[in-house]
Amino acid sequence: MSETALLSRADPQFLADVLEGLRGPRRAIPARWFYDERGSTLFDEITRLPEYYPTRNETALLKNCKDALAEQIASGGAVIEFGAGSATKTPLLLEAIDPEFYVPVDISGDYLRNSATVLQSRFPDLNIIPVEADFTQTMVLPDNIAYTNILGFFPGSTIGNFVPRSGVDLLRHMRATLGEGAKLLIGFDRIKSADVLVPAYDDAAGVTAAFNLNLLHRINRELGGDIPVDAFLHQIVWNDLEARVEMHLRCNRDIRFSVAGVDFSFDEGDSIHTENSHKYDLRSLRLLLRSGCWTPVAEYSDPEDWFTLVLAEAAPIQTAP
Ligand code: TRP
Repeated sequence: MSETALLSRADPQFLADVLEGLRGPRRAIPARWFYDERGSTLFDEITRLPEYYPTRNETALLKNCKDALAEQIASGGAVIEFGAGSATKTPLLLEAIDPEFYVPVDISGDYLRNSATVLQSRFPDLNIIPVEADFTQTMVLPDNIAYTNILGFFPGSTIGNFVPRSGVDLLRHMRATLGEGAKLLIGFDRIKSADVLVPAYDDAAGVTAAFNLNLLHRINRELGGDIPVDAFLHQIVWNDLEARVEMHLRCNRDIRFSVAGVDFSFDEGDSIHTENSHKYDLRSLRLLLRSGCWTPVAEYSDPEDWFTLVLAEAAPIQTAP
């Protein structure tokens, strides 16, 4: 395909983010572009890696706090999941609290419809109403669920992929979307030794490295780039000051390449920042929730204190003093 034909089919936002993100001096590409088909498959593999404990620990936690959740949350309401839902975690929650409605919200319509179909066959009586939307913004919930009990569900420690100020914005949007009286069940990955954190994002089998590098392959494929992918290394850094794991693509030699006809040059050691995963202790996650207009009411942690699920309640937007 000619470059013009290729670019006419490319996502204009992807192109804009990449051209902007590759310009120095602080290069960064938004993490949402990881998830093309190959990226989504690799991410699925990541969640099953021996080093990647968050999925395992959160799933076990959900199993263990089923009864406690059932006591706190009335059945027959609506669960609004931010994200398309996971094949294992979502059913555990649905079994625990037996809602009437399930509303998965995701930006990717295809992914959303596929997982809704799978879930429907497992829960034939559940009303599933997929909503294709960007959940970082306030949205209008489907009419059918007005006046029911609302529970937001935000697992996977996805909140950690937002810098704290954006995480607070996100929580406030969720508060505005879900409304007065709503609850939120949200997963946080805890601060722990870098000896555990770093391998979770830099596994021995190289799956996370392939996932990170796939971003460069995707740029070459979709935006007509000629990035020499073999000049980049997957690099994980524990940034203690920011309490986050950072993922970078670091260049190991001086290179020149072009994307969509725009030339770039990288020196050895230059890097592209591709993802953050913020970790929290109990005090900092409570503060984040309160800043985002949510009041923590119950916390469930695994025996190692590696992962915490928090049940929170919508707080009044304004409080005195
Ligand atoms: N929310 C997950 C996390 O931060 C997402 C994730 C896991 C991820 N591994 C990743 C994102 C590797 C990008 C790259 O743990």
